This record gives sequence, C-alpha cells and structure tokens, in this order.
Amino acid sequence: MSLKEKINPAKLPQHIAIIMDGNGRWAKQKGAERIYGHENGVKSVRETVEAAAELGIKYLTLYAFSTENWNRPQEEVMALMQLLVHTINAETPTLNKNNIRLQAIGNLKSLPKDCFDELQDAIAKTQHNTQTTLVLALSYSARWEITNAMKEIAEKIENKTLTASQINEETITAHLCTASIPEPELMIRTSGEHRISNFLLWQLAYSELYFTDTLWPDFKRENFYEAIIDYQNRERRFGKTSEQLIS
Ligand code: IPE
Ligand code: IPE
Ligand code: MG
Repeated sequence: MSLKEKINPAKLPQHIAIIMDGNGRWAKQKGAERIYGHENGVKSVRETVEAAAELGIKYLTLYAFSTENWNRPQEEVMALMQLLVHTINAETPTLNKNNIRLQAIGNLKSLPKDCFDELQDAIAKTQHNTQTTLVLALSYSARWEITNAMKEIAEKIENKTLTASQINEETITAHLCTASIPEPELMIRTSGEHRISNFLLWQLAYSELYFTDTLWPDFKRENFYEAIIDYQNRERRFGKTSEQLIS
C-alpha cells in the first residue's frame, strides 16, 4: 500500500498551514549560498501545492516571509523578493491549469512594488479557481495581524458602529487577514525547530502541530502524505474527554 493510499479521504483536513523552514541550512550542508536553498525550496512548494490540490485540500497556507525576516542581510532579502516575483510569474499558468486560486496575507504594502504588482496580477488571474486556495503569508506576522485587527475594532467603537459588549471571538476572527478562511486543522513545520515564530497565533489555537526534521528543500510529496496520515491518527478532543467523543 502506498503512503497516498493510506490517507483517509473522508478525514482530510480542510486547511493545512506550513512553516517552510531550513532552506539556509540545506544550502550550507551543500557548501552553497543560502539563496540556493531558497531556489530549491521553490521545488518543494510546487510539489506540495500540487499534492494538496490532487488530494482536494481546500486551503494551503505557506509561510514564505515573516515580518522578522526583513531583518536578514539586505542581499538575502532582495534575492528572496526577486525569487518571489519570478516564481509567481512563472507559476501562474500552472495554478490555472490545476484550478488553484492564489491569495496572500500579511503587510503586502511593504513589499517592493514589482513584487506587489506581480502578486496582485496572479491573484486576479486565478480568482475564479475552485480546487484549492493557496495562501501565501508574505511580510506576515500574527502580532502585526492581531494589532491591525484591534485597531480596526477600536475605530468601529470610536465611530459608534460597534460597542465593547458586542465584541466576541467571531468579531476578532472577522478582522484578521484570514477572515474568510477556516482555521488550519494541521500545522507543519520543517527543519526540526519546535516553535511558531509569530505564525497564525489566533488561528492555531486548536491545530494539530506536526514537526519534522526534514529541511524544506527535501520536503516532498511523501513527507506531506506522512504528515497527513499522522494527523489522521490523532484524537482531537477540544477539551472534552476521550469517552465523550466515542459516545
Ligand atoms: C526558510 O528557510 C525560508 C525563509 C524563512 C524565507 P530559512 O532561510 O529560515 O533557513 P534556515 O532556518 O536558516 O536553515
Ligand atoms: C519562519 O522561519 C518564517 C518563515 C518560514 C517564512 P524563520 O527561519 O524566520 O524562523 P525563526 O526566526 O528561526 O524562528
Ligand atoms: Mg529558518
């Protein structure tokens, strides 16, 4: 039985989020520059996106560049942005062929103009696709997102379209970048790091977390299937007891 056949199609997560980590270490192991790792990471992105669409995963969110990543050496930031522009441009026809819709979350206005324009163009060109939504987290951090949500809510209180007593969890969810996206049932992080790094802090409240030592450029279809199988073998209790779930 192949790994893919071990996946139960009736228990697929609707939304998988991935912290793609380890490109730099992968390159270093090969005696290459960090950007070589990022370039090879794109191949893993392609493969994972295709696998998710084939399986019928409705949402796949990829953490591609964090707010904190702006603090990397300027040369690496520039190279990453160029790689992004190039990849989005080159991959748009494939996204359309595979019926994949592109979206982005994060402080997109902080991206270089060519990057922002390319992104908006690809989002527009793929907006009617229905198989899978690929969400790129770009210049994203959860604290930035939550801070923005709080500002928007405060403005509504100031102009009296909302009262403090009306605020509930749905109000906050509705003001996040992911307002129209279900919470991820599964979050994968590669490269052996066991941390969240400011990713989807609100949305991950009850997600299953899966950590693998595999470095992102080595993460392929089979690794993705393994993570889904692991997820399918877990018991999600949401605070209840095991016995309550059975009855
Ligand atoms: C992940 O790989 C890609 C981005 C954060 C853009 P890293 O570049 O963080 O690789 P490591 O963690 O240094 O190996
Ligand atoms: C997290 O990876 C951000 C992305 C994958 C884009 P980092 O490699 O930047 O995370 P830390 O700083 O090591 O936690
Ligand atoms: Mg890293």
